[in-house]
Amino acid sequence: MIKKVGVVGLGQMGGGITQVTAQAGFSVLANDATEEFIAKGIRNITKQLDKAVEKGKLDAAGKEKVLGNIKTTTELADFKDCDIVIEAVTENMAAKKEIFAELDKICKPETIFASNTSSLPIGDLAAVTKRRDKFLGLHFFNPVPVMKLVEVVKQLDTSDETFNAAFSFAQAVGKNPVKAKDSPGFIVNVLLIPYLLDAIRQYENGLASREDIDSGMMLGCGHPMGPLTLTDFIGLDTTLYIADIFFEEFKDGHYAAPPLLRRMVNAGYLGKKSGRGFYDYSK
Ligand code: 3HC
Repeated sequence: MIKKVGVVGLGQMGGGITQVTAQAGFSVLANDATEEFIAKGIRNITKQLDKAVEKGKLDAAGKEKVLGNIKTTTELADFKDCDIVIEAVTENMAAKKEIFAELDKICKPETIFASNTSSLPIGDLAAVTKRRDKFLGLHFFNPVPVMKLVEVVKQLDTSDETFNAAFSFAQAVGKNPVKAKDSPGFIVNVLLIPYLLDAIRQYENGLASREDIDSGMMLGCGHPMGPLTLTDFIGLDTTLYIADIFFEEFKDGHYAAPPLLRRMVNAGYLGKKSGRGFYDYSK
């Protein structure tokens, strides 16, 4: 039975996971490397809750209750009695392995470990622990409070008991979980990323303006965002990183990053978060 949830990383994804978990009434312990990162993460969550209060979706007491469900720490040692720990740090295999190896020594034997990685093999992360049967992927989507999907990813050794507990947990935080295999990009990213790369390639080839490519997919296919806006939203660096992992795995040109994407990332155009991507967000 999952009652106490640990979240490692209070960035965009970890903050969103912390928020929806606390809103669902779980007790959450959220961690980041410094008090400054933690303060930023809690500020972002508070901002989202304030918006919900403004819209009349939450009252002031409800907001305080949600914030009261969240405790923070800079020490992984405090995760010892969590029932599940969800890791949501940046997509760096070495950093994630280090965190899980340390958590494996700290947490009680029953604690389930989940990674929110979008592209790294879950089995490779599980391999640094002695609890491979209690290890799986829980992949949320951005913005976490809005997107309904969670991919629940079973690696070779994930037990049915662990899978079912994590699947029920995803439902309990208000999401629609789907079962995915530990294959690059799981279900969504292996379909989404090549589409975004194709849109960038077509833009690079001069097919149409960025606005018309985006309008085409929004108005013609009913997508909430066009592909270039969505790439800005996800982050050009993240998109490139995932594309490179896919290309390395599949050795198929369909997954190769267009030169324009790499040039933009190298120039610091990372999308919305850096103020500039395919569009200018500086104002
Ligand atoms: N956090 C929390 N809530 C947010 C939010 C955020 N960052 N951004 C928007 N919202 C909420 C708004 O408050 C609003 O809530 P309401 O309905 O209660 O009023 C609702 O979402 C709609 O927002 P807006 O009216 O401001 O704007 P839009 O209607 O344009 O919606 C959007 C914004 C939800 C982001 C929509 O454009 C969208 O769905 N875009 C596509 C997002 C997407 O595809 N995400 C998946 C990315 S892939 C991924 O995450 C995988 C990774 O591994 C790469």
